[in-house]
Amino acid sequence: MGGGRYLAVVGGGGVHLDSNNSSPALAEAHRAPYSGVPMTQMADVTETLRTRLFPFPRPHLLSASDLDRPDVDALLDLADLFLEFGRQSAKSLDLLRGRTLINLFFENSTRTQGSFEIAGKRLGADVVNMAVGASSVAKGETLIDTAATLVAMRPDLLVVRHWGSGAADLLARKVQCAVINAGDGQHEHPTQALLDLLTLRRAFGDDVSSLSVAICGDIQHSRVARSNVALLQAMGCEVRLVGPPTLLPSEAARWGAPVFTDMIEGISGVDVVMMLRLQRERMNGAFVPSTREYFRFWGLDGEKLAHAAPGAKVMHPGPMNRGVEIESSIADDPAVSLISDQVEAGVALRMAVLASLAERMEAGQ
Ligand code: NCD
Repeated sequence: MGGGRYLAVVGGGGVHLDSNNSSPALAEAHRAPYSGVPMTQMADVTETLRTRLFPFPRPHLLSASDLDRPDVDALLDLADLFLEFGRQSAKSLDLLRGRTLINLFFENSTRTQGSFEIAGKRLGADVVNMAVGASSVAKGETLIDTAATLVAMRPDLLVVRHWGSGAADLLARKVQCAVINAGDGQHEHPTQALLDLLTLRRAFGDDVSSLSVAICGDIQHSRVARSNVALLQAMGCEVRLVGPPTLLPSEAARWGAPVFTDMIEGISGVDVVMMLRLQRERMNGAFVPSTREYFRFWGLDGEKLAHAAPGAKVMHPGPMNRGVEIESSIADDPAVSLISDQVEAGVALRMAVLASLAERMEAGQ
């Protein structure tokens, strides 16, 4: 592809071209000091991105705790670059040309699957979506059978979502390609936590360590909460868990985050209110009396949000139940809501993960 085409493309503000990163895992490989030449003067943005690429420090991305802090910073710096790149009209790159990415989804998903698909396609990969939910599983195929089938298809990257906690780890041990956990049961959803962090960095500045974040709602069934607690704490943020007693996991006390069963108390003074969806598909039994009651006590509206810090922002991983977890006027208010920013950051962050995993493969690791 012609380099000149992208010249003006990535030159916009907000790209983090130099950051002091000193990951032992990445130090030599990717953090070639930025030459100081503005992006707008560079001949080929693909080449620029190549110089910023680094081999992913692990063969797979299974958990938010797979990455140490410098690795997270480096990945988000790269994602920032992809985000600016994605705002331009010409968005295709060839960093994954020749690579096959399989989106293996055992649970329904629109946004996560679409986000990985767009990310893979923008990088030039051949992307195949496989929804396993109804057919093979109904016919009795096990995860291991599916893994064996996939091995024979020789993909390079496997993005997996499964209802079982631990499914992504199991698959990673059975296949030869890089596995990315796109949500396993109630366990982890690492790319969601990383994209949330990217969104926070862009909203509040690169140093997020002074932020306090209240994660609110159905913590019990949420892989988003588990990955976010781990990642935000690793970045030095204060994390609070807020929800009704029936939706707080018994092990929450061990997560090292204060637990609140009163919403107003829980979000008082926080910089970020991260709302979660009621995961009805994972509930067996009545965890909440009624959605009306839930909204009254746990739904985010203007009155409750007024107790957060001035300038506080609101997040939700989606899909959201309006009028249940969050009032529409809050979700749609660009002055407080980061929800669309999260979606945009998702594509960029996933591009960074995929490109970096491919770079590791190129390096023969
Ligand atoms: C989250 C998930 O699937 O865990 N959504 C997502 O990734 N788009 C949160 C949710 O489903 O509530």
